[in-house]
Amino acid sequence: MASLFEPGFIGPLKLKNRMIRSATWEGMCGPDGRPTQKLTDHYADLVKGGIGLIISGYTYVRPDGKQLPGKMGIYTDAFAEDFKRLTGTVHDLGGKIACQLVHAGGQADLKAAGRKPVAPSAVKAAAFPEIPQALTILEIEDITDAFAGAAGRAKEWGFDGVQIHGAHGYLVSQFLSPLTNQRTDEYGGSLENRARFLFDVYEKIRARVGKNYPVFIKFNGEDHLENGLNREDALDVARQISLAGMDAVEVSSGNAASGEKSPARTKIDAPKKRPITSPLPRA
Ligand SMILES: Cc1cc2nc3c(=O)[nH]c(=O)nc-3n(C[C@H](O)[C@H](O)[C@H](O)COP(=O)(O)O)c2cc1C
Repeated sequence: MASLFEPGFIGPLKLKNRMIRSATWEGMCGPDGRPTQKLTDHYADLVKGGIGLIISGYTYVRPDGKQLPGKMGIYTDAFAEDFKRLTGTVHDLGGKIACQLVHAGGQADLKAAGRKPVAPSAVKAAAFPEIPQALTILEIEDITDAFAGAAGRAKEWGFDGVQIHGAHGYLVSQFLSPLTNQRTDEYGGSLENRARFLFDVYEKIRARVGKNYPVFIKFNGEDHLENGLNREDALDVARQISLAGMDAVEVSSGNAASGEKSPARTKIDAPKKRPITSPLPRA
């Protein structure tokens, strides 16, 4: 069996080792989502610490898909130089970085997103305050185009791949879940219909970036919610993902309403509060 420290491949992407930093919102970007030097320094520290592949914090593909403050945004060409500096720094240090693409859907923040959140259906996401507006078919097409545009920018600006954020109750995950997707058109009802949004996103991204560019997905193996995405359906979606040609699947689970099974663990101490110092040397 290969060791953690041996080089590995994910699809066409060669990694110096098998340590991958799962996407983690850092909150270090400007109010408009522009990456900062602070975030670049943070990624540099991760590479110096030995990480083979960084997956960026969730990055919104359209301003109305924003949730937490300081989140990264990849919806405009105006950020080209900042993004190139960020990916260039990671590469100069021998690291690799993929960009996690998201639209927060019904979990978007009203103030941050600048409008009432949008979702598959006008069903409130548990643990979030707003009743979202149900998307029309034309609006769905606009959002899938925005994912493709964002992936195109990510490729052009030096990211080594993109990861579709299909987990944790954000828009892709909302379409998959019967709890938040109560549509009666071709995007709702059967599993095939609920998964249509995800595969539209993927196909448009693939058409934009070409067949040799790494495209991953993170999605829920289970929502841990009554009437949410269950394990059997998730397994079916995973099979379809593999057949569709995505390069890797990261399986997570839960969303903000899933209590102890929610994806963000709490009560983790900040480094300065930890009793022992990090054993990793800082370059
Ligand atoms: C502060 C914090 C920020 C996070 N930000 C993201 C994010 O931007 N994207 C994402 O997919 N997951 C995010 N997560 C979830 C983790 O990447 C991971 O999925 C979670 O810790 C559960 O692990 P599991 O996916 O192996 O079950 C975040 C978690 C924490 C604690």
